[in-house]
Amino acid sequence: MQKVEAIIRPEKLNDVKNALAAAGFVGLNVVNVTGRGVQKGVVHIGRGGETYEVDMLPKVKLEVVVRDEDAEKVVQLIAQAARTGHIGDGKIFLIPVADAMRVRTGERGEAAL
Ligand SMILES: Nc1ncnc2c1ncn2[C@@H]1O[C@H](COP(=O)(O)OP(=O)(O)OP(=O)(O)O)[C@@H](O)[C@H]1O
Ligand SMILES: [Mg+2]
Repeated sequence: MQKVEAIIRPEKLNDVKNALAAAGFVGLNVVNVTGRGVQKGVVHIGRGGETYEVDMLPKVKLEVVVRDEDAEKVVQLIAQAARTGHIGDGKIFLIPVADAMRVRTGERGEAAL
């Protein structure tokens, strides 16, 4: 199993959730985060022309644990739904997951997904 950890624009969350659900991936976890990428946040220009920097931007982190054979499909689905083509579109990480359990039944591994 793999945990797909995707950091995306908050305004893209609904599109991404819908794309995943349409493909049968319903269970997921959403966390509000702040972060920065290579641009170290952004420089804003105020009304008076003054500049100020915001170095941590609000993003949404989506976590989906999937079977190994589904990981690439989920990465592509998320990327296509989240992409605007502009800087700050986000990032996706793949993390191996050793095991899982459905607490209600005690099922383990992929049966617990
Ligand atoms: N190396 C990293 N490790 C963990 N989180 C990261 C990393 N890089 C980016 N992030 C997270 O992803 C969010 C979006 O990053 P962002 O899309 O700006 O990446 P980028 O590498 O700067 O690409 P781009 O040039 O398209 O902006 C960041 O705000 C941060 O929350
Ligand atoms: Mg960036």
